[in-house]
Amino acid sequence: MVVLSGTKLAGEIGASRSAVWRFVQQLRSMGVEIAGHPATGYQLKSVPDLLLPEFVKPLAKGIIFAERIHHYFRIGSTNAEAMNAAAQGEPEGSVFLAEEQTSGRGRGGHSWLSEKSAGIYCSVVLRPEMSPADTLAISLAAGLAVRAAVQEVTSLVADLRWPNDVLLAGKKFCGILIEMNAEPTRVRYLVLGIGLNVNQSSFPKAMENEATSLRLETGSTWSRVELAAALLKSLHREYRSIASARSKALAEIIRRFEDASSAARGRQVRVEEEGGYEGVTEGLDASGFLRVRTAKGVRTVISGGVRELSH
Ligand code: BTN
Repeated sequence: MVVLSGTKLAGEIGASRSAVWRFVQQLRSMGVEIAGHPATGYQLKSVPDLLLPEFVKPLAKGIIFAERIHHYFRIGSTNAEAMNAAAQGEPEGSVFLAEEQTSGRGRGGHSWLSEKSAGIYCSVVLRPEMSPADTLAISLAAGLAVRAAVQEVTSLVADLRWPNDVLLAGKKFCGILIEMNAEPTRVRYLVLGIGLNVNQSSFPKAMENEATSLRLETGSTWSRVELAAALLKSLHREYRSIASARSKALAEIIRRFEDASSAARGRQVRVEEEGGYEGVTEGLDASGFLRVRTAKGVRTVISGGVRELSH
C-alpha cells in the first residue's frame, strides 16, 4: 500500500492527472478507501468487501463457477434473476451475486431478509442430467458444501437440519432454495440459491431466537469475498462428484449428511405436512428423504418443515 504520485499514475495509464483524480473520486464513491490528493500522491487504504467478479474470480480459479459471475448492488432476488436468465439459455455454472435483495425468496413461500453487504446472496445455474426426484442429492450436498466452506474460513463446525438449513448454536445462519424448470423425468435447468448471514450484527426481534450470523457467533467480521470463493469451490467439488457417479455419490452424501446433522437420528420432532405429526428421526432413506418413526410406523418426510421438540 505505497504512496503513488498523480503524475506517475497518469503516466502509467496514459491519462491526464485530472483524469486520475476523477477515477480516484469514482473509486471512493464505490467504497474504496484512498488517502491523499494529486499534489501528495495517492495511497490505497482498503478495498471494500464487495462481491465483485474482479475480487471473487481470482480466488476461485479453475472451477465451473468462475466463468460467468454476475454482480448486482441491488436486485429483487438472485434466484428470480438466475431463473429468467436460465430460461434464456444462460449456461451451467453462471453465478448471480448481490449485495442486497429487496424480495429475497425463502423456502415454503417465505421471504429471505437480505441486508445490504452483510450477507452473501448467491444463485448458481445448473443443468444436471437427472430427474427432478434425484435433485434431493444436490440439495443435501449444497448444505455440506456450505458447512465445509464455513469451516475452512472460520473454523466453525456447523450443524445441518434436513434438508439443507445450516445452523450454529441451534440457530440458522444459512438457507438454501432450489428452484427448477423440469419435465416429469428430466430437469431442464435448476437454480441453487444460497443465503448466508455473515456480518449481520442483529436481526429483527421476531427472528432473534432462530436466526444468527457468523459475526454474531464469533464476535468478528468476516470477508464475504473469501467466503463466497470458498463456497463456490466447495460447491464445485460436491457437484462434480454428483455428476460423475450419481448412485454412489448419493449414498456417500447421505452418510456424510447423517454424520453432520445432529438431528438426523434419535430426535423428537414435529413435521408440518399431511396435517402434521410427531415422532423420532431415524436417518435418511436410500433416496435422501428423512425418516421419522411415529406411533403408526415409519413415515418419510417429503417437503421439509421439521421442527425439533427436544434436545
Ligand atoms: C430458506 O428459506 O431457508 C432458503 C433461503 C434462500 C435465500 C437465498 S438468498 C440468494 C437466493 N435468492 C433468493 O431470492 N433466495 C436465495
